[in-house]
Amino acid sequence: MKNTFTMIDNQTGEKYEFSILESTRGPSVVDISTFYAKTGKFTFDNGFTSTASCTSTITFIDGLKGELRYRGITIEELASKHSYLEACYLLLNEKLPNERELLEFDLELRHRSLVHEKLRHLFAAFPAGAHPMASLSSAVAALSTFYYDHIQLSTEDNYQEMARRIIAKIPTLAAFSYRHSIGAPFIHPDIELSYSENFLYMIRAYPGGKMHRGVDGEKKIKPIEVKALDTIFTLHADHEQNASTTTVRSVASTGAHPYVAISAGISALWGRAHGGANESVIKQLEMIGSLENVDAFIARAKDPDDDFRLMGFGHRVYKNFDPRAKALKKLQDELKDELKLDSHLMEIAQRIEEIALNDEYFISRNLYPNIDFYSGVILTALGIPKSMFTPIFVIGRTVGWITQWIEFKKDTTMKIARPRQLYLGK
Ligand code: ACO
Repeated sequence: MKNTFTMIDNQTGEKYEFSILESTRGPSVVDISTFYAKTGKFTFDNGFTSTASCTSTITFIDGLKGELRYRGITIEELASKHSYLEACYLLLNEKLPNERELLEFDLELRHRSLVHEKLRHLFAAFPAGAHPMASLSSAVAALSTFYYDHIQLSTEDNYQEMARRIIAKIPTLAAFSYRHSIGAPFIHPDIELSYSENFLYMIRAYPGGKMHRGVDGEKKIKPIEVKALDTIFTLHADHEQNASTTTVRSVASTGAHPYVAISAGISALWGRAHGGANESVIKQLEMIGSLENVDAFIARAKDPDDDFRLMGFGHRVYKNFDPRAKALKKLQDELKDELKLDSHLMEIAQRIEEIALNDEYFISRNLYPNIDFYSGVILTALGIPKSMFTPIFVIGRTVGWITQWIEFKKDTTMKIARPRQLYLGK
């Protein structure tokens, strides 16, 4: 059997042969990089539904089975048995850390979590009420001015330092973006706290590190809240060549600074067809408002003449349950009583899920709930405001973006991302 793929041009009868490149998991690919040179034609693939743009060893998704693995380990195992920092180490180093490596990694991130005082002043330029995603994207681009030397990385230590720096600082910048948006004073990271607890602390604390005080005393951050946020970060850590990661790789391909590439990834994530969906899901549930309105909204989602879409449903790759959504649904059930999840919004969400999973429109189009359908309800229970849902996605995903950026830079065969077009103008 030949390891090639033959295409026939039915206009001329000419045959062209292309190599097949075998994968270790999932579909093999036909190498069409010589297609134009051989045939004088371009290929057309709107939205890259069939096009692999790189080789990668980081994350694998089988959308038909609903499977997701980081470096070969299933997301179910990572979410249930390992911390977010272990998942970060795994993505960056291709192996889980031992106890000492984890401690060293954790301490380094704690030490690097502070940001330069001058960077803090950048926020003063933004208007009151600025959306945290806009300030966060700007702040991360500005971070490149403080660490300009990361434009040139040669040793493994250089790469690791650059990656650890952005992973450590992103929660601080996200928290600053939020505090600025509500006009509250910034809270600096506390070196005593773990990665996920520190973020909740920077969002919630009063100056002096005190927490909100009710009649029953101080509202301390609960271990179950830290665990829930940590799991959410793990579930978002990477997702192979999605829209924002593809953006990060495209920027990398021009030789720009890594933090500018991450800033571009943040912008790409913001849209509601991608990471912005988590904020939109809750807004939509609030708009639906009560169980009796659900049917009317489902009807709108199915109407081809209405551009209304059910937020948190559908996925380009998953044509089965998103395994991250399954893990979140499990987490939601575990947290229901302890965190007093908003039962009204949950009821509406559950009704939508029941109807959609049994409706011919959704079944025939393989539209299942995605990760964003469940994350909003859990984040609401953690006291996180809607405008911070997508920045939380950013915090979790930064490790994935930077790992993909490093993989791109180390692959000497990669070229500048420069697609062709089908010209239809004058
Ligand atoms: N509600 C109603 N109908 C939908 C939905 C939805 N949420 N999603 C897709 N469809 C329908 C489309 O109208 C289309 O129907 P048609 O064949 O009759 O024209 C069909 O399903 C296929 O939809 P496409 O837009 O072609 O699918 P694509 O793979 O390009 O889009 C996307 C995937 C963008 C995620 C889409 O499903 C969507 O907009 N979902 C809502 C937003 C959302 O939840 N985004 C988060 C994605 S996960 C993430 O990024 C973390």
